[in-house]
Amino acid sequence: MRIFPLIKDLRAFLDEQKAGGKRVGFVPTMGALHEGHLSLMRQAKAENDLLVVSIFVNPIQFNNPEDLKKYPRDVEGDKKLLESVGCDALFLPSEDEMYPEPVTKVYDFGDLANVMEGVFRPGHFNGVAVVVHKLFDIVQPDRAYFGEKDFQQLAIIKKMVQMENIPVEIIPCPIMRESDGLAMSSRNVRLTPEQRKNAPFIYQTLREAQRRRKHLCAKPLQQMVINLFDANKNFRLEYFEIVDDQNLQPIQNWNEHVGTVACVAAWMGEVRLIDNIRII
Ligand code: PAF
Repeated sequence: MRIFPLIKDLRAFLDEQKAGGKRVGFVPTMGALHEGHLSLMRQAKAENDLLVVSIFVNPIQFNNPEDLKKYPRDVEGDKKLLESVGCDALFLPSEDEMYPEPVTKVYDFGDLANVMEGVFRPGHFNGVAVVVHKLFDIVQPDRAYFGEKDFQQLAIIKKMVQMENIPVEIIPCPIMRESDGLAMSSRNVRLTPEQRKNAPFIYQTLREAQRRRKHLCAKPLQQMVINLFDANKNFRLEYFEIVDDQNLQPIQNWNEHVGTVACVAAWMGEVRLIDNIRII
């Protein structure tokens, strides 16, 4: 695996590879890699000639400085995992390399960014869009792979690609779960053993919502889930929303023709976890 801290060196390498007709699959990450990331990488490796991964803990997408400080980092462990999935090139830039000048770009994603994460993490999606756009400019991948755990992020990135006319195919990949159902996330390592034991409640509750949808309308179902979280002292629920999978707006009634996803964000102590499940 080649490691590139500098944009110009990565570009030179990729220009040469692309001139030889190689198609590039790209997985952007913030490191602290886990099986969820590796599954995206295996798919990218299988569907393209070259696997490029970036590791960059993007400061401008953290609305909470404490979260940025405590975000898990393990570059040496990550490199070993990247070797194990056959990563061809790792882009590992510094903050100065990515942002030599202050970022001024402001995107308008309309209502897509005015719900859920957009409400509770102001500025987060602008930071994500800025960094992903920049990474796409640098790597110019044929395909880029994103996990569906960050369901709203995926919608925002698709929108950004459309708005900016970027010639990349965005490939959504299913959520990877631990054997007890907890969605894989870099933040899981910050849970105490006790919190980790209780964390699968999130997925269990999403499954319960999925089962109950035949018997309850969207609003009472939402209230049922809110009540379940309120009764569980291990969690502080931030939101539970049942949304249209295209525009991410909360739905009022079930409609077999509208894809519907239930999304949740909840705190366990100082760790914020998100998850989602398809309802229709
Ligand atoms: O999902 C993530 O890890 C990040 O938001 C991403 C897409 C790598 C941008 O920093």
